[in-house]
Amino acid sequence: MTEKIIVANWKQNMNLEASLAWLNKLEIADFKDKKIVLCPPLLLLFHLKEKIDSIGLPIVLGAQDFPRWESGSHTGEIPAELLAGYIEYALVGHSERRLGNGEREDVLVEKVRVAKANGVEPIFCISESQQSIPDGVQIVAYEPISAIGTGESESPTKVYDLARELKTDGAEKVLYGGSVTPENVNEFTSKDSIDGVLVGKASLDPVSFSQIVRNV
Ligand code: PGA
Repeated sequence: MTEKIIVANWKQNMNLEASLAWLNKLEIADFKDKKIVLCPPLLLLFHLKEKIDSIGLPIVLGAQDFPRWESGSHTGEIPAELLAGYIEYALVGHSERRLGNGEREDVLVEKVRVAKANGVEPIFCISESQQSIPDGVQIVAYEPISAIGTGESESPTKVYDLARELKTDGAEKVLYGGSVTPENVNEFTSKDSIDGVLVGKASLDPVSFSQIVRNV
């Protein structure tokens, strides 16, 4: 079986105390065929990396976004190299950023380029099959807007068909996101073309996230 990727996207939730408690309550083994990626708010990355390294948890960190520039006179932006010191993956193009922050395709192309140049693997999110995918993207996450945070996940068969199409067009791995729960996760990940999941709400609770990881 190829490795499945399980991403926790905490969005704009959690604080330092709650995030450290979350790590302590996680109940996961060191699965050889599962990669767990935690995307917390940026300010928590430093503390979480220290904690993960010190207790040897089998999880890696990701960012919920990545800068579009390397460094320089961009007030409010974080240097790409600095961020890359903490993370292995970065979400790029999440629909909440496309819609809420007006991120256009040209910006997303730059984010993918800068992430790759700094050794960070972008997880490129699309909410519709027609959205274009920048060159160099290997991991695509399909997250229909109707399924995000609604409790109404997409049909696994539809995701499976789309994943096969995306792979024909060059994607190496395809993840699904949108109302993933411990109960429904396996309907997606048991299909060979679906390489993992991106989990929002259900990732905030360490018990349900651990269950999702186990059920993949
Ligand atoms: P959800 O969010 O699991 O709460 O639907 C998924 C996402 O937006 O990545």
